[in-house]
Amino acid sequence: MIENPYLPSPAKIIEIIEETPDIKTFKLELEREISFTPGQFLEIYCYGVGEMPISISSSPLEKKNVEISVKKVGKVSSLLHEAEVGDIVGVRGPYGNGFPLDIILGRDAVLIGGGIGLAPLRSLIKYLLETGFISRNKLYLLYGARSPRDVVFKNEIEKWLNIDEKNFRVYLTVDSTESEEWNHEIGFVNSLVDKLKPELKKLNNPVAIICGPPIMIKFVVKDLLKMKWNEARIFFSLERVMKCGIGKCGHCAIGDKYVCIDGPVFSYKEMASNLEFIEG
Ligand SMILES: Cc1cc2nc3c(=O)[nH]c(=O)nc-3n(C[C@H](O)[C@H](O)[C@H](O)COP(=O)(O)OP(=O)(O)OC[C@H]3O[C@@H](n4cnc5c(N)ncnc54)[C@H](O)[C@@H]3O)c2cc1C
Ligand code: FES
Repeated sequence: MIENPYLPSPAKIIEIIEETPDIKTFKLELEREISFTPGQFLEIYCYGVGEMPISISSSPLEKKNVEISVKKVGKVSSLLHEAEVGDIVGVRGPYGNGFPLDIILGRDAVLIGGGIGLAPLRSLIKYLLETGFISRNKLYLLYGARSPRDVVFKNEIEKWLNIDEKNFRVYLTVDSTESEEWNHEIGFVNSLVDKLKPELKKLNNPVAIICGPPIMIKFVVKDLLKMKWNEARIFFSLERVMKCGIGKCGHCAIGDKYVCIDGPVFSYKEMASNLEFIEG
């Protein structure tokens, strides 16, 4: 029998973590194990309302229970935010290409994230830490959020900050603090790139992976290009409104690329001619 690619499989919500006022992490118990690469996404179906593409935020070494971290923005994400442990959602995937592990493994890596963009990077960081990457290579995480209360995965970031390993460096920044306590930087993420420029320039053929809002990607890419970073080793994950997730409907097209199957992760080199927002 031919399987219907649009048919979601049921998954049970087994844990919910409130990350920020508008972001929750949901641990899903899948019907069967999946293999995926960090950076790939699932289509999450909330019964009766619709579907949305969401990156997997947990380690690919955990194949049966996966985590997704979802910001409440509209119809489907708002309904998911009302869900409780024990509720069922539909899941299709994993889809997309994921981060280029063949390029990342064996060289120093700089991960740059903004807001909920840390979700797919968390999957990658977990994988790299679990497989001993930092015993061989340097790993930098530069992360920015709007304010201290908007920082996702706070407990995990605290653990990462305390890893006693000179090869894993974590830098945090927020746009503003109001009256909250904050012991890290203040400013946009690209100001971290600027500040760390002398250190980053010493890395061994490094790869940069950027996940966050388009405006952040634009400024970070510009800064990296100014540093003469190799264009083929600047990668970013792009978001587009999607429908099918499998290259059939054309909703996610950017130029001649479909974000759902050619991406969502692209190198600057392959996408430069399609990225008018980078040039502006
Ligand atoms: C590959 C991929 C991975 C993603 N990973 C995550 C993730 O890990 N966590 C997360 O919270 N979100 C992620 N997103 C974004 C998420 O898919 C959208 O926020 C979600 O589809 C919104 O659905 P909704 O029904 O709640 O909102 P809607 O009611 O559909 O829309 C609300 C508003 O958001 C806009 N919008 C909808 N979808 C997108 C989109 N893809 N990009 C930009 N604006 C959009 C709409 O135009 C509208 O203005 C990802 C998107 C893609 C393409
Ligand atoms: S979402 Fe249908 S082609 Fe990409």
